[in-house]
This record gives sequence, C-alpha cells and structure tokens, in this order.
Amino acid sequence: MTDEQWQSLLFNCQGVFRPASPLDSRDLFSGRTEQIVRTGQAVHTIGQHAIIFGQRGVGKSSLANILKILLSGEKKIVVKVNCHKDDSFSKIWKNALDEIHFVEQKTVSVIGATRDIYSSPGDSLRDDAGVSEVKKALSVIGRQSDTVFIFDEFDRLHGLKVQQMFADLIKDLSDHAVNSTLILVGVANDVSGIIQEHASIDRCVVQIPMPRMNNEELKEIIQKAMQELGTTIEAEALELIVAISQGLPHYTHLIGRESVSNAIKAKRLNSKIDDVKAGVNTAVQNTKGTLLDTYQAATRGQRKGTLFQHVLLACALAEVDDQGFFISAAVRNPLTRIMKTVSSRNPTDSIKIDYDISGFSQHLDKFSSDPTRGPVLEKAGTARKFRFRFLNPLLQPYVIMRGVSDGFLDGELLELLRSKKQPEY
Ligand SMILES: Nc1ncnc2c1ncn2[C@@H]1O[C@H](COP(=O)(O)OP(=O)(O)O)[C@@H](O)[C@H]1O
Ligand SMILES: [Mg+2]
Repeated sequence: MTDEQWQSLLFNCQGVFRPASPLDSRDLFSGRTEQIVRTGQAVHTIGQHAIIFGQRGVGKSSLANILKILLSGEKKIVVKVNCHKDDSFSKIWKNALDEIHFVEQKTVSVIGATRDIYSSPGDSLRDDAGVSEVKKALSVIGRQSDTVFIFDEFDRLHGLKVQQMFADLIKDLSDHAVNSTLILVGVANDVSGIIQEHASIDRCVVQIPMPRMNNEELKEIIQKAMQELGTTIEAEALELIVAISQGLPHYTHLIGRESVSNAIKAKRLNSKIDDVKAGVNTAVQNTKGTLLDTYQAATRGQRKGTLFQHVLLACALAEVDDQGFFISAAVRNPLTRIMKTVSSRNPTDSIKIDYDISGFSQHLDKFSSDPTRGPVLEKAGTARKFRFRFLNPLLQPYVIMRGVSDGFLDGELLELLRSKKQPEY
C-alpha cells in the first residue's frame, strides 16, 4: 500500500468507531435484537406504549435512533425529541408536534390554480396545553397516519407533575385506542425512575430494560468496524478490548479506535495485543474532564504508599453479582495480585502484599462516604453484609484502563480480568 492509502485508512478508522456520540445508522449497530423486537411489538399493538431504561452509556440513544430508522421505513410518522431539564409538558409536545408537517393543496383562485399549504399540528397547540389538548391533537394526526413519538433523556425532566401528565396521556391514548405510540427513554434502574407513579399505566406500557452489552455484542462492534476497514484483529487483542469495556460500548469504540489506529500507523493491517495496550495508554492520556477529576479526587494521597489507587483498581476487578455489586471479600484477591506487582517493582522497600479485609475496609468506606473522595462507590446492605458498586458505571472501565496503562494487567491479573463475569445491570 502507498503512504496515501495508509493515510486514508487511518482517516476512515476515525469514522468507523464512534465513542463520543450515539449511532445514527445501522451499519455499525450491533446486537439489541430483543429490545428491538419488544419495542416493535408495542408499536404494532394499539394501546401499548414502551419505556426503555438503563444505565448511562449502555446504548439507549443509539437504540432510539435505530428504532426511528426502522419505524420510518414502515411509512409511519416517527418523531424523536430530546427532553431538557426545564421543559414543561406543553413545551415538549410543541417541540414534538413542530416536527410534523402536513401539505395540503388548496384552490386559491377562480380559475382553479392550486398552491401547497403547509401546516404543523404544533401551530395550534396552546402554550399551556394539557393532557386532553395533546390527546386531541394526536387523535387528529392518528387519523392520517400511524405515529410514534420517541422521547429520549426523559429522566432529565424535573418534577412529578410532568411525569404524571405523561402517565395520564398514555392512559388516555390507550383507553381511546388512539393510533399513536409513545416511547419514553431514559437513565434509570427501573421504570419508576422514569415515571414514579406508574401503577396506573402498567397495563399499557411494555417495560424494556437495557442491560450492558454482552461480550458477543461488543465483539460484533469491533468486527463490523474491521469489515468496513478491511483490517483484522488478533483474538487475544479483541478479547482484551472487550474485557476492559465491561459491557459499555463507549469503551469498545474508544479502545478499538486507538488500537486499530496504532496498527495502521505502524503500517500493519492486523491489530495485536500490544496495539491495544498502547491504545489504552493514549485513551487514558486523552481523558480529561469529570472522569479524570473523579479518579484523581478518589485516589489522591500525600504519603508514599497510600493504597487508594490500588484498592480502587482492585474494586474495579472484583467479582460482582448481577446488579454489579461486590462484597469486601472480593477485593482481596485482586488487591493481593496488584501488591505483588508493586512489590516486585520496589524490591528494596518492604511492601506488604497480603491485606485482609480490615486492611482496606476504611478505603472502601472513604470511597463510599467521604465527599472529598467522591463518593465513587455506592454502599448497600447492612453491617457485615455491605455491598458496593461504582456510582458512575463509566468510571469502572476507566480505572481498569489506568491499571493497564500503569502496567498492572499482565499475567495473573489479566487472566482475572478475562475470566471476570460482567455485571448485567
Ligand atoms: N448497539 C450498539 N452497537 C454499537 N455501538 C453502540 C451500540 N449502542 C451504543 N453504542 C455506542 O456506545 C456509546 C454510548 O451509546 P449511547 O447510545 O449514547 O448510550 P446512552 O444513550 O445509553 O447513554 C456511543 O458511542 C455509541 O456509538
Ligand atoms: Mg443517551
């Protein structure tokens, strides 16, 4: 290949990985079949609506975009809007209805000339429109076409009142079999994080949880990108990217992009594990903002030998339950392995390797309750049975990436990371 061809390949590589924005085309979209099928069923059943909820960064907005593409292909009117903190019920609906345009041919003179008249159902919506007015507008539109409204970032809306109005509207639309489906999408652990008082609409709403992506789905992200670029990746390298990602596709795109860029810069079409390690390094160096600030606050320490950085890495590598919680005892094994590496690097210092729980429980407490260190962990359960998990799910893979770039994830620890079960929540 010529230098220009390598350069083009490197350029294309920046486009096939999308760590920073939701996907808006199907070429790069992986998995999520179940969520697509279940939403489709809701849309095709009159009186059914859908609520899609999950952690930040699992891929909700990307799914919403793909649903819009799929449903538009069925000749439905599909509107997707993002909600904002201070939006009122009527403001959201005005934004949504303004996206719809009808064209009507009107006779404008005695000789029969016609002209196109454009109108939008948003035009006639009052600034303080309530549930019944919106329902009326949707009934009118519904007579012309099936319509689907997707509201992303629904959790950003403030206040129970607007939630309650949406619940009332959903119930009204269902009761009157209006030809219009609402899909609410947002960050939440369960449906009550989207609409707190949901009991009255449970019957007409399909709840669609968005778990983290599984390893196969994450692999598919890289494989699709490889196909697009005409490049390859060694199995071991692919596995490392997937293992660090912990089910969060943002990291698969980010590490994938940096790793494959490294290979291409070295004029290789095949990416190897060392490209991934170097790629992680670059990704760590380029991480600025909240994640870096949070990490630094959590791990800072003046005294030599403070353990915060090592304990946080051990937390990120600890075995978790389905909800992503780990118990103190699960931190011990990874911490011991980390300390072995620390000790082998500083053979003249007498570094303690084997900590029992009392040796790091104060660190876990500080991570979960000291405001100057975050908190970065959420603490649940009762005394002797405390469980912890990362408050911001995106911090955990970042901590693992720091572990990789600090050279800890070799040998035993790498094995541990590979064999670690991913949280599903
Ligand atoms: N199904 C998917 N296939 C491939 N990449 C995905 C998928 N879902 C999300 N992503 C990628 O993951 C990142 C986060 O996705 P996003 O949809 O913004 O998540 P959320 O809305 O849940 O915070 C984006 O960079 C996006 O490109
Ligand atoms: Mg989103």
